[in-house]
Amino acid sequence: MRIDVISLFPEFVAQCAAFGVTGRAGERGLLQLHGWNPRDFAQGNYRRVDERPFGGGPGMVMMIDPLRAALQAAREADPRPTRVIYLSPQGVPFTQARARELATRERMVLLCGRYEGIDERLIEAEVDEELSIGDYVLSGGELAAAVVIDAVARLQEGALGDDQSAVQDSFEDGLLDCPHYTRPVEHELGQVPPVLMSGNHAQIARWRRLESLGRTWRRRPDLLDEAALSKTDRALLDA
Ligand code: ADE
Repeated sequence: MRIDVISLFPEFVAQCAAFGVTGRAGERGLLQLHGWNPRDFAQGNYRRVDERPFGGGPGMVMMIDPLRAALQAAREADPRPTRVIYLSPQGVPFTQARARELATRERMVLLCGRYEGIDERLIEAEVDEELSIGDYVLSGGELAAAVVIDAVARLQEGALGDDQSAVQDSFEDGLLDCPHYTRPVEHELGQVPPVLMSGNHAQIARWRRLESLGRTWRRRPDLLDEAALSKTDRALLDA
């Protein structure tokens, strides 16, 4: 998958993606990241990328032309069609389901704003979808872009050491993940639940499902309405 990032700090996004699973996805050729800085496409001695908002008010607004030229360059660098995604708090919530859908694409362009935002005309003309990573305001879209890149890169086939791990993640079945334990069995902080060492795979699967259901019920009951629950799950929850 190819991801082009339009940002005043493209190196920052690339650095975020340089480690761990995303770094390995890059090394394995599963992910190609390309950064484009609108300042490189800006005119004049000062290479201005922002201006004061019409109508007054605080802050600055990113201008159309440098962003448009950077987008054009990204499009021309690869002839395959691409969707342009703008990261902003006004976007639709980014979820695991959205990550799964984006992970199937061959390429995408992530557009990062700074300051008060981007001239709305550029968004209307060039942006296919707007995504938010949560109900809080960051000082730019770069961290949000890094979040999207990470979530999507780890879903590329071969990116994770064990291909099962993505399937077992939190949210893959709409529920929170169960707890995990490793050596040592006995520790001053507590004991590993004995069922996990029983070797009984059916019992282990049942315990994990119960833990997932219980956690989701306690911490995020809102998720239960949407989760794919079996009759057995429902019976356990109603008990
Ligand atoms: N840019 C600033 N805040 C953001 C958020 N919450 N999600 C996505 N992009 C953003």
